[in-house]
Amino acid sequence: MSPSPLLQSADRWQGVIHRYAKYLPVTDATPRISLSEGNTPLVRVDHFVEAIGGKFSLFLKYEGLNPTASFKDRGMTLAISKACEKGAEVVACASTGNTSAAAAAYSARAKLKCVVILPHGNIAMGKLSQALIYGAETIAIRGNFDDALRIVRELGGTGRVEVVNSINPVRIEGQKTAAFEICDQLGRAPDFHFLPVGNAGNITAYWRGFQEYADRGLVETTPRLMGWQAAGAAPLVEGKPVAQPETIATAIRIGNPASWQGAETAVRESQGGIDKVTDEEILHAYKTIAQTEGILAEPASAAPLAGLIRAVHNQSIPEGSLVTATMTGHGLKDPDRALKTAGVEPTVVDPSTSAVMKSIGM
Ligand code: F0G
Repeated sequence: MSPSPLLQSADRWQGVIHRYAKYLPVTDATPRISLSEGNTPLVRVDHFVEAIGGKFSLFLKYEGLNPTASFKDRGMTLAISKACEKGAEVVACASTGNTSAAAAAYSARAKLKCVVILPHGNIAMGKLSQALIYGAETIAIRGNFDDALRIVRELGGTGRVEVVNSINPVRIEGQKTAAFEICDQLGRAPDFHFLPVGNAGNITAYWRGFQEYADRGLVETTPRLMGWQAAGAAPLVEGKPVAQPETIATAIRIGNPASWQGAETAVRESQGGIDKVTDEEILHAYKTIAQTEGILAEPASAAPLAGLIRAVHNQSIPEGSLVTATMTGHGLKDPDRALKTAGVEPTVVDPSTSAVMKSIGM
């Protein structure tokens, strides 16, 4: 049977390696382990901007719509493809949850053994269930992410395990494709780009992506990168590692980011900044974006939105600016947080139309 025209269509989206191969460290010999990640929507959110009193255009890069529901798929397609090219048999990562979900999924597809090391008790339920159902060896340590990353570095040092954290440079290469997509979708670079910062790989990757597009003449400008940490886990803001990081945004509960230098370079060269927001501000932004725009992003993703609310108060965004922000992970990763933050329970009534009408005040 010959393949249908649809299967041969050059237009069919086949993931970030297929789309951006010429910008990535791959050759025709590199296997392509893809789940058709990338090509995520860039959603204009005028109601949110109005609600926070801003006078600029804001577009959200909705990375929660990737195959494992976070931006990690962009770097993982490349990391797992390169691991296969090298002939690796075991891959490992430390994670606050999303990297492990992506590593587990892409490893399943590549038939690789995958080991994920997680901080026990501090992983959102959706992320933990992903690692388990995709079949990764899931180890929960009595420690935090920084402990897990130390262990994974040591495992990598044995030479028997391929580390797929962002200390593996190909992860950053894959993640820079989000910046490419934003430029492709807007037809230009934004003036500002806001994003959450944890281990600092993503801010490093975005800066590389925006710069490469400018260097190649595909856009004329680069944005100022505005990174946001949670107040209880803000080593880049404090200027020193935090021994016991704490925040409800468990994805960015990190005290000693691996890409510290990359983040500092991104902020300095782009004339941007890194600052922190409290858990209270994060939760306020999380609820506001859900209720004004119908966008559910996980709490870490709301940190840059909380940052935007600050920026409006400080009048640090000139009127008419074009602003983008990354919604790094889907809100359904952490349904407990959604239930707690909504602060209401379903109303239970008898099974009659009149009972429903009475309940909704009609
Ligand atoms: N947002 C989400 C939803 C994340 O999962 C992460 C990192 C970040 C933001 C921060 O990105 O680390 O590149 O600065 N999650 C990692 C993980 C640490 O293990 O899933 P970063």
